Amino acid sequence: MIPSFVEEGATDILLTRDEIGRRVREMGEEISRHYAGGPPLLMIGLLKGSILFTADLVREMSIDVEVDFISISSYRGRSTSSGSVRLLRDLDRDVYDRNILIVEDIVDSGLSLSYIRNALLARSPRSLAIAALLDKRQRRVSEVPVDYVGFQIPDRFVVGYGLDYRQRYRGMPYIAVLDPAEICDEDPS
Ligand code: IMP
Ligand code: MG
Repeated sequence: MIPSFVEEGATDILLTRDEIGRRVREMGEEISRHYAGGPPLLMIGLLKGSILFTADLVREMSIDVEVDFISISSYRGRSTSSGSVRLLRDLDRDVYDRNILIVEDIVDSGLSLSYIRNALLARSPRSLAIAALLDKRQRRVSEVPVDYVGFQIPDRFVVGYGLDYRQRYRGMPYIAVLDPAEICDEDPS
């Protein structure tokens, strides 16, 4: 039975659990095909938004992978990017000469991914690719190359499946548009 998990303020469902599951499986197959026969792929999840996507994608991979996490902050509790990016937690693993795949929940302005991509390229990986579950193409400011995209979505603020608004809604198994009435752009600090 499907649990009736509906969070107040996020009832307008954009992507169901099944739609997400099917697409993540396809992405896992495609990425596995690309890296098959090579050394173990190092998958790097961007905390915290990509935790569910990373966990599900790893389970859909048919090749040997390693997993690490990195944490940056650019949002400070707001619904639009502040444009400034800070590294909050670095990797445990050395990426030198490794095939690495950055796993991100959503690409919006692209500023976060550009920052992390440049920071990791400076450590000389053998290759670097990016997988993002969601892409808000119209909002791009920094043209970062995204190799694997789950879904193109419209310019709406979405929550669920790892994505939050002020740390809420991450546990919802589907992705919903946040009711604009819930959004308050005051700095919470
Ligand atoms: P960018 O640097 O503007 O591309 O922002 C990317 C980050 O902003 C993502 O990793 C998310 O954490 C956050 N973000 C952007 N759009 C949304 C959204 O619609 N819902 C939740 N988080 C979002
Ligand atoms: Mg994020």
